[in-house]
Amino acid sequence: MADPKNIVILTGAGISAESGIATFRGPGGLWEGHRVEDVCTPQALAADPALVHRFYDLRRAALASVRPNPAHDALARLDREWAGDLLIVTQNVDDLHERAGATRMLHMHGALKQALCAACGERFDWADDLPPGTPCPACAAPALRPDIVFFGEIPYQMERIEAALAQADLFASIGTSGAVYPAAGFVRMAKAYGAATLELNLDPSEGSSWFDESRFGPAGTLVPAWVEDMLSR
Ligand code: APR
Repeated sequence: MADPKNIVILTGAGISAESGIATFRGPGGLWEGHRVEDVCTPQALAADPALVHRFYDLRRAALASVRPNPAHDALARLDREWAGDLLIVTQNVDDLHERAGATRMLHMHGALKQALCAACGERFDWADDLPPGTPCPACAAPALRPDIVFFGEIPYQMERIEAALAQADLFASIGTSGAVYPAAGFVRMAKAYGAATLELNLDPSEGSSWFDESRFGPAGTLVPAWVEDMLSR
């Protein structure tokens, strides 16, 4: 892999697994306790707002008892020290990348610690429970909802992501099953733009065959070693 200058990194639930946050698919996965259709769709929110808000309240509250792991810390170090362009695109809604110190990043599926007003579109930092009908601090409509991108909704900042992929020399995917689009298609977009592609994951994923290189193992081990190598070039 020639010396890359511009890097795009996609992270998924696997990067937070060693922090104690359940992934979605696989044994003990988050969805196992719930049918996705029951908690992560606009229809579910309309049909049973109390269930959906409670599901996210519990996940938001659980953030207080977890911490960034060495994989988050290593990406934050790369963010601080990498001289070229760098963008961390996370599918995760936890705040562990931020708490590790990452700044050049975005949440394409939203964030547990944000609330969104369904009436006026304003967003607010939100750390507490968010009961259905909470009035919006900006427009007063009783329309605050979790700022989470539900299945069937459009992920955030897609133009910014696509612009970064078009400039990337290296696309690295960390801790994702490659099961959900559009994120699962980023490796193909990056390749089409001429980027080298690297996968760091515990197990082979649905997208593994598209990567130039895949390394399998825990992110807490693979990511620090990869960052050390990148910064010592
Ligand atoms: N280190 C690295 N990878 C790991 C680890 C670990 N310690 N533990 C698990 N993994 C890998 C698994 O092998 C799997 O490929 O992380 C991946 C997790 O996959 P999913 O549970 O499907 O999570 P993710 O890919 O982030 O899901 C994408 O789907 O449910 C929606 O919106 C939700 O953002 C989520 C999206």
